[in-house]
Amino acid sequence: MSEAFEPKILAFLCNWCSYAGADLAGVSRFQYPPTIRVMRTMCSGRIDPSYILEGLKDGFDAVFVFGCHIGDCHYIDGNVYTSKRMDLTRKLLEISGIGADRMQLRWVSAAEGQQFADFVTQLSAVVRDAGPFPREKYQLQLAALTGALNAPRLRWLLGMDRQLTERGNVYNDKVDEGKYLELLHSAAKEEYEKALILEVLREGPLSVREIASKTALLVYAVSLILNGIERAGLAEFKGYEGSTPKFIRLAP
Ligand code: FES
Repeated sequence: MSEAFEPKILAFLCNWCSYAGADLAGVSRFQYPPTIRVMRTMCSGRIDPSYILEGLKDGFDAVFVFGCHIGDCHYIDGNVYTSKRMDLTRKLLEISGIGADRMQLRWVSAAEGQQFADFVTQLSAVVRDAGPFPREKYQLQLAALTGALNAPRLRWLLGMDRQLTERGNVYNDKVDEGKYLELLHSAAKEEYEKALILEVLREGPLSVREIASKTALLVYAVSLILNGIERAGLAEFKGYEGSTPKFIRLAP
């Protein structure tokens, strides 16, 4: 008889609230499944989206982040940044096909031991239903997600979020929050697709059709993105193989 799948989940817990909440759950003997491996951080704002990807690459089936409630962060607004970064991470996981459920964010205070136990129980059930994370199948996507999250354009947009939506520019013009999110999500998709193409070009010279078949992008989309990548000096036309044009990666 095969053993029931028990997910292995990496959980980042903020020292000031969630970690104390988990501690309270323990001393109060609130029951929750033994699925999480805890990593304590001084603030949820310390968690870079790349840590989520590293967790998935390193053998975890999902990554959870627990932080203080909005308004309770010991570093004023670290968790506001967490919320925005994790929203982007979930969006990218969804775009890549890995699925947003592999990453979850929840707020838990030091007094919410029962809430912590309930969250771990509910979220673990979601991961259990999704099954083990097939990291071998998603190696290309994980590498492309890392590339996208390191893209200067995405980093800049994420860093400028509150400046653009709350403080405004020198003329006091602000970007509407909904519009900003639309812009961020569309930039995330573009950067992910660009990173996907650059990843497959590591294999050597490839034609547009070969890239399309390896990335599951449309041939037309690959042509367009490749144009941009060439203009940015990250890839170039290498020559013809028969009558087929081939491209190589120039990016390090
Ligand atoms: Fe807990 Fe910032 S101190 S989220």
